[in-house]
Amino acid sequence: MIHKNRQISKQFCILIFIILIYCLVGCSPQKKKLSQFEEDHGIIVGFSQIGAESAWRTCNTRSVQDAAAERGVQLVYDNAEQKQENQIKALRSFIAYQVDVIVFVPIVTDGWDNVLQEARDAGIPVLVTDRKIDVADPSLYAGFIGTDSLKEGRNAGLFVVSKFENAREHSAETDDYINIVELFGTEGSSVANGRAEGFREVLKDHPQYRIIYSKSGDFLRSKGYELAVEFLDMYEDIDVIYSHNDGMTLGVIEAMEERGLRPGKDIVIVTIDAQQAAIDALREGKVNCVIECNPKTGPEIIKLAERLAAGESIPRVQYVHEEVFYETDDLSLIAPRGY
Ligand code: AHR
Repeated sequence: MIHKNRQISKQFCILIFIILIYCLVGCSPQKKKLSQFEEDHGIIVGFSQIGAESAWRTCNTRSVQDAAAERGVQLVYDNAEQKQENQIKALRSFIAYQVDVIVFVPIVTDGWDNVLQEARDAGIPVLVTDRKIDVADPSLYAGFIGTDSLKEGRNAGLFVVSKFENAREHSAETDDYINIVELFGTEGSSVANGRAEGFREVLKDHPQYRIIYSKSGDFLRSKGYELAVEFLDMYEDIDVIYSHNDGMTLGVIEAMEERGLRPGKDIVIVTIDAQQAAIDALREGKVNCVIECNPKTGPEIIKLAERLAAGESIPRVQYVHEEVFYETDDLSLIAPRGY
């Protein structure tokens, strides 16, 4: 009897031991799930996008999602709805989830040091895309891929100067100021800062060009419209509208036409992005110059993420190919834009 009891308690102990082991292994379900996924499907990338404020942005998101799907990369996607605090939360959740790589579009340049330090402590490499950041320790992120906004701003300035220098050669009135209105993108964003800086860099050698109005329309069509209603009321003599994106430009065109003004003729318009609607406006003569900002960065982003996940280093800065479309070009040659 005693022998039998001993055997039962021994079996009971073994059972408890097995349950314990099972519990211990099962206590890290996340890790197990991730490594299983990696074996089956490849890497996991956390992607924090800033929102869906423009056709450009929607195309950019799609480009990353399509490229990830094509490469068998699992994308954990988050839309921050234009709020930096949402982006920081998303980055923290990617860290908790132990993704292999974090990719993010920083809405503004500042305020990333702490969360990037957390990513580093967790051993997760970070790729910054589209907009740049300013951190005390630049090694907190592996690299940047995206647009060269300073160059976009310079191209806008060069177009304006060449447009008016040509006109002046054929006109007696050479002392007049060229009055410029600027629709600024999101304040504190690297792209808006670069576009403003590059533009001013060109104009500084041409004192007759002056910016009489500059306000942020946050890259939104609705705000572009609102600002146009305001500045068209304030100023009678506007020569140029320089808009940091096509969305705001489309709002301006609408406001001008409501007043019986002819965009592209009564006022010269330079815009950035090159979405289909802006190219159509260029063809109709409502816009004079369109500077491309290329949103189709998904394939390159995913390639770089794969390299980072493999422990390789990547280029510190990688700019994407971008063009400029002028009113004088053969516009029939421009292929459909896809955004
Ligand atoms: O950061 C890129 C800019 O953001 C694009 O020019 C604009 O359309 C977008 O919303």
